[in-house]
Amino acid sequence: IPVDPFDLVIFGGTGDLARRKILPGLYNRYLAGQMPDEARIIGAARAELDEDGYRQMVAQSIEEFVPAQKRDAAVIDSFLQRVHYLRIDARGTDGWEDLARMIRKDVVQAFYFSVAPSLFGDLAERLHAHGISGPESRIVVEKPFGHDLKSARALNATLAAHFDESQIYRIDHYLGKETVQNLMAVRFANILFEPLWNARHVDHVQITVAETVGVGGRGQYYDQSGAMRDMVQNHLMQLLCLIAMEPPYRFDPDAVRDEKLKVIRALQPVRPDDIVRGQYRAGKGPDGTPQPSYLDDVGNPDSRTESFIAMRVEIANWRWKGTPFYLRTGKKLRARASEIAVVFKEVPHSIFGDDEGWRENVLSIRLQPNEGMTLSVMIKEPGPGGMRLTEVPLDMTFAEALGADGQDIPDAYERLIMDVIRGNQTLFMRGDEVEAAWAWTDPIIAGWEARGDRPRPYDPGSSGPEDALMLLHRDGRRWREIRE
Ligand code: BG6
Repeated sequence: IPVDPFDLVIFGGTGDLARRKILPGLYNRYLAGQMPDEARIIGAARAELDEDGYRQMVAQSIEEFVPAQKRDAAVIDSFLQRVHYLRIDARGTDGWEDLARMIRKDVVQAFYFSVAPSLFGDLAERLHAHGISGPESRIVVEKPFGHDLKSARALNATLAAHFDESQIYRIDHYLGKETVQNLMAVRFANILFEPLWNARHVDHVQITVAETVGVGGRGQYYDQSGAMRDMVQNHLMQLLCLIAMEPPYRFDPDAVRDEKLKVIRALQPVRPDDIVRGQYRAGKGPDGTPQPSYLDDVGNPDSRTESFIAMRVEIANWRWKGTPFYLRTGKKLRARASEIAVVFKEVPHSIFGDDEGWRENVLSIRLQPNEGMTLSVMIKEPGPGGMRLTEVPLDMTFAEALGADGQDIPDAYERLIMDVIRGNQTLFMRGDEVEAAWAWTDPIIAGWEARGDRPRPYDPGSSGPEDALMLLHRDGRRWREIRE
C-alpha cells in the first residue's frame, strides 16, 4: 500500500548514511510501489551541486548499494525524477528561503537530520524561523543521541524548543530489523511462550551482536565512544527491552515505549566483576593478510576504549529477579552474527536419567544473517537403540518460511523511513527512554574510568577476550558459539 505523498528533506544529503542507506532504501520502496508518484526527496547539503549532479550521485549510490537484481534502469530513471537538490547552510542563511518556497504545505513533511548532532539545534531553529515546519512536520534524528546523560538531555531540550515529542523520530535502526519486530509478534501473538517467559522458567538470556569489521575509517568517532556507547546503550538495550518488557496493552507507540522504559529503569547497576572489556590486537585475516590493531585503526597508542564488551546484567522486577541477561558485542570477531538466545531451565526431574543426551530448550532469535528463529526441543533418537534423547531444531528461517529469498526482507532503514511518513513512532525511541538508557550507562563507564581499567587484548577473528568466557563459566553456563 503506498504511503501518503510527502516531501522528505535529507540534511546531510551527500553524506555517508544518505548514500549507503537512506537513498538506496527510498529507491527500494519506490520499486516496491510504496512511494507515490507525488513524493519528493530533497537532498540538502553544503556541496556546490546542481540537481543533475545530485541525481548522478544518487544514481551512483543505487548502483553501489542496491543489489543488481533490483536495479531497473527505467525505475531508477523515474525515481530520480522525484529527487531534488538544495544547497543550504545549516549555520547561515543560504538556501533557507528556497527551501521555504519549495516545501509543499499539503503533504507530509519530514526532515531527516543526517548531520552531526551539534547542528540539530541550528536546523530546528531555522526550520521554525523560516516558517518551513509546522505542527504536522516530522524530524528524524540519528544516533548517537548524546554522549552521556547530560548531552542527551541538552539535545532533547534543543529539539523540544521547536518540536513536540510526537514530531521527533529518534532512530535506532535495530528496531527496524525484521526479526526484532518479529520478536514482539512471537511473544505477544502466541500463547506458547509468555507463560514461560519469566525467571521461573528462563535460566538466562544471551544477547550477542558480533561483527567482523573493525573501526578503521571511523576511528575518531569510535575512540570517543567504544562498544558501550556505540552499541550497548542503544541497540543491545533495545533488544533487551523487547525481550524483557511486559505486554503493552496495545501495539501503540506510547504503550510499547512505556513498557520499554520500565525495563530500563529496573536495570541494576553492573558490578565491575560483571564486565569484561576488550580491544583487538593486530593479527592476520582469513587469507593471511596482516590486519592493524585497534590502536593503529584509531591512531591512538594509549587508547583505553573498548572494541568489545561483555556484561552480566540484572533486571530487578518480579518477572526477572534471578535471571541474568548476558550481553556481548564487539568488532573483528569470528563472524558477523547477531542472536538473542532465551535459554530455558531444566525439566524439574528427568525420568530418562542424566546421561541420555539431555539438553535445555533454547529459543534462538537470529537477527542477521539468515534471519529467523529456532526452538531446540528434545526428542527420542530414532531407531531401536533404546530411549536416547536428541536435540532437534524447530526451524523457522524466515527466508524459507515466508518464501522470500533474503533479498526481499527490507532493510531496517527503509521500513523506518516509511514509518516516519506514516506517522508511526512505535519503532522510534522516546526522549525519556534515551535519557534513562544513559542514566544506566553513565555510572558504569565512570566506574571503569575511575579505576583506570584497561581493556583486555583479543585476537581478531576470535570470540573476544578469554575473560569474557569466564563471565559465564563461573555461573556454570557457556556462551553460544558465534557463527554465521
Ligand atoms: C551502528 C554502529 O549503529 O551499528 C556501528 O555505530 C555498527 O559501529 C552498526 O557497526 C551495526 O549495524 P548492523 O545493522 O550492521 O548490525
